[in-house]
Amino acid sequence: MKVCRTKKSLSALSAAWHRAGETVALVPTMGFLHEGHLSLVRLAKKKARRVVVSVFVNPTQFGPNEDFAQYPRDERRDFALLRAEGVDAVFAPTPEEMYGAEATVSLVESKLSKVMCGAFRPIHFAGVLTVVLKLFNASRADVAVFGRKDAQQLAVIRRMVRDLDVPVRIVGAPLVREKDGLALSSRNTYLSPAEHERALALHEALDEAEADYKAGRTDPRRSVAKIEKALAKACDRVDYVVAVDADTLEPVKKLGPNTLLALAAYVGKTRLIDNHVLR
Ligand code: PAF
Repeated sequence: MKVCRTKKSLSALSAAWHRAGETVALVPTMGFLHEGHLSLVRLAKKKARRVVVSVFVNPTQFGPNEDFAQYPRDERRDFALLRAEGVDAVFAPTPEEMYGAEATVSLVESKLSKVMCGAFRPIHFAGVLTVVLKLFNASRADVAVFGRKDAQQLAVIRRMVRDLDVPVRIVGAPLVREKDGLALSSRNTYLSPAEHERALALHEALDEAEADYKAGRTDPRRSVAKIEKALAKACDRVDYVVAVDADTLEPVKKLGPNTLLALAAYVGKTRLIDNHVLR
């Protein structure tokens, strides 16, 4: 597995692969890898001949009072996991290498990024889009794989690719859960055992909403209210619960296929997100 620390070395490697007629898939991550990330890598391997994983805790997507400094990092462990998965290259730049000294341009999406998490984390998606576009440019990837756990991120990135004609194919990968149902996240490490137990309410509320939908109850207001009630009991703060179209993120009048039931809530000081896309 090659380790690239500069954009130039990654671009050169990718160009050499392309010259040899090989396709390249990119899996962008912020490291501290778990099974969810590894499932993205395994999917990426099915989509292209070569797989690059980026490991970069992107400072520009964290607000001033967010957890950039505490965000868990373990490069040695990450690289060992990626090597074991047969990844071809890892891209792990410093912030200085990624952004240079005087970056003054960032990418703002003006609709999908303003709702849900965007309403509570105003600079988050500009930071995500900017770094993701830079990763696409450096890696020259043909395909990029993102988890459906970050359903809004996936929708916003798809929109950027569509609106800016970015020559990359976006693949969404299924959300991966712990055995007890909690959606996998690097931030789960912040939870105490008691908080972890309380956090199970997130997926239980979504499971129940999906069961109600399957039983024929399609009123989004009723589902949202029921989830809110369950979260109010278990969580310390609920940022939002929504029933929206998974592509446009616009509220739906009736639950149906492609409705995204999504939520964000705090358990202790940890902000967690989870979602179900109704099928
Ligand atoms: O989903 C993440 O881990 C990050 O938002 C991403 C896409 C790697 C950009 O920093």
